[in-house]
Amino acid sequence: MRTIALLNMKGGVGKTTTVINLAHVLTHDYHQRVLVVDCDPQCNLSNFYTDLGDETVTVADYLKSTQEPFWEDCLLEVGNGLWLLPASPSLWELDLASHKNGDSNIMSLRELMEVIEEDKGMDVVLFDCPPGFTAASTAALMAAQEVIIPVLMDGFSLEGMAEMLHQITSMHQANPSLEVGGVLINQWHRSAPVVQAEQVLRAMPVPVYHQTIRRTDKVLESTMVKVPVTEYSIASSAARDYRLLAQEIFGEVPTDE
Ligand SMILES: Nc1ncnc2c1ncn2[C@@H]1O[C@H](COP(=O)(O)OP(=O)(O)O)[C@@H](O)[C@H]1O
Ligand SMILES: [Mg+2]
Repeated sequence: MRTIALLNMKGGVGKTTTVINLAHVLTHDYHQRVLVVDCDPQCNLSNFYTDLGDETVTVADYLKSTQEPFWEDCLLEVGNGLWLLPASPSLWELDLASHKNGDSNIMSLRELMEVIEEDKGMDVVLFDCPPGFTAASTAALMAAQEVIIPVLMDGFSLEGMAEMLHQITSMHQANPSLEVGGVLINQWHRSAPVVQAEQVLRAMPVPVYHQTIRRTDKVLESTMVKVPVTEYSIASSAARDYRLLAQEIFGEVPTDE
């Protein structure tokens, strides 16, 4: 089972979009069983797939350690081979509370991964992190083996990179299996500052995926209708890029015998 956290201290860089599209390609083309975990109190990922009811078990329940039932009963099936552990706005309050009392169980998502792994219940788990090191994103980094860092090509993003890598490295003591899978250049387009920033990034001592995701309005349109762009517009540049990114991360699509 591969456990991957999508992380950046910044919002709006494509974390949620990347989770949605990798999950779609993995379930659809690779026939993998995928769990997506929404760690962001903004709930973009959760709302993309479903309208949440009051009864739904969320990441906040795990962090509060109130959720002990069998793992499979806690996940929402939101597609063919696709499950969601949603977020809830109560993650905001949980962060305030845990700063005061330190009472969020940041090991809870790791413990969840251990039972799913033992039951061979999933092939890939993708954690959609909020901006910043909140209780939920820390719990995701305790549970994940790999980090994908989506970035936009501007000076502010490059500036924040060193600090973020430092923070991830400092998690190593608590989670020695955590590695930076790579930095993912998102919303790439042909313009002088983008090309220049890409050169600067690729010269940094950090793995950067060869594949970039191009900027296209098809991604914006796809979020309006709540369909992954890899399904909404198969011919779009971003759909093609996400399929090639999946190959770079997960290998060739298995051929049906
Ligand atoms: N390749 C792309 N081309 C155009 N717009 C994109 C692309 N990727 C993401 N976006 C848009 O950028 C915004 C932020 O993306 P999102 O995935 O929500 O970022 P994050 O989860 O990091 O906050 C959204 O409006 C999304 O539709
Ligand atoms: Mg997001």
